Amino acid sequence: MTSNSYADRIVEIPPYLFAEVDKEIERKKAQGTDVISLGIGDPDLPTPGNIVEKLCEAARDPINQKYPSYRGMLEFRTAVALWYKRRFSVSLNPEGEVITLMGSKDGIVHLPLAFVNPGDQVLVPDPAYPVYKIGTILAGGKPAMMPLLEENGFKPDLTKIDKKTAKKAKLMFLNYPNNPTAEVAGKEFFKEVVDFAEENQVIVCHDNAYSEVTFDGYNAPSFLEIKNAKDIGIEFHSLSKTYSMTGWRLGWVVGNEEILNGLGKVKENVDSGVFQAVQWAGIEAFKTPQDIVKRNMKTLAERRDLMADSLNDLGWDVKKPIATFYLWFKIPEPYKSSIEFSKELLDKTGVVLTPGIGFGTYGEGYVRCSLTQPKERLEEAVERIERAMI
Ligand SMILES: Cc1ncc(COP(=O)(O)O)c(C=O)c1O
Repeated sequence: MTSNSYADRIVEIPPYLFAEVDKEIERKKAQGTDVISLGIGDPDLPTPGNIVEKLCEAARDPINQKYPSYRGMLEFRTAVALWYKRRFSVSLNPEGEVITLMGSKDGIVHLPLAFVNPGDQVLVPDPAYPVYKIGTILAGGKPAMMPLLEENGFKPDLTKIDKKTAKKAKLMFLNYPNNPTAEVAGKEFFKEVVDFAEENQVIVCHDNAYSEVTFDGYNAPSFLEIKNAKDIGIEFHSLSKTYSMTGWRLGWVVGNEEILNGLGKVKENVDSGVFQAVQWAGIEAFKTPQDIVKRNMKTLAERRDLMADSLNDLGWDVKKPIATFYLWFKIPEPYKSSIEFSKELLDKTGVVLTPGIGFGTYGEGYVRCSLTQPKERLEEAVERIERAMI
């Protein structure tokens, strides 16, 4: 086997830009440094106990030990539909308008296989969760990047999308509340998106993974709340962030039935569904007393305040987001590159922040700080940064 045995689609996947930082982390750990990672978006708070108990009980039942159905148990899809009705006043038919996923990533990466022919364009935000671009490349498509600029509230300027690209694009990925910028979008913006999609016959794939990770009374909408959105779009979601269930791999996609049928056909052929015991636990998740979720969000908001206030005291410029567990801010002077800044920070303090360039070209100059560490670790991180005078 030689290195040119790899298929073009693998070679085309952009280099893993966090690899350099990962190497540095390993080197620091080997030297005995107590590394504080504010790099990954994986909640540190545990999954609520009622969900864990349900999994254990359901795993013991032999009926759940068989192959599950491809699209997911109707009971789980019904629970999703009921939640959409309760939470967003969006009506969904669980038979055709909901598919269970192995986390939203499963649907995001496989959807382009159903709609993108080699050479087709896909509108992808930049900076963004990298999987939109990678799913496009794996399907042989060409990502057409939509810059998310701070002066536009980290929204794509739809009027700036080249007319030819707009007409040729098959899909458009969007994500609000947004990773990595922590920006939110209102219904006005989503309305513009629906108009754009109708005019250009583009399928909108909205990723709403962070809709429940919100603070200060903010209530994130679903894209499907917009009139006619279901004619042209779908929405990905999961239990990962709301209930600290990243390891469980349970999510869903809802919306336009024909679009879902395309994804369903791909998935019938690449996987065999989600372990039923996990789906029963997912149904239980929707019944979790909401004061547990509220308490977790209060903890995250306290961490956000602590981190933003402390870093601003050091002269950095950090805004407080009303959603997601990320802070997204410009690297301080005199640094020019986000990788250079992150590496030096790690080297001098053992604190890991994610360089913005890892999320796309327009992420350069920024850095992302995850709030997924206890308060004491965040305080320790700030103390080290202050001592190192960065
Ligand atoms: C914006 C966004 N979408 C989707 C995902 C994937 O989440 P999961 O596959 O666990 O549902 C993530 C994970 O970090 C994310 O940040």
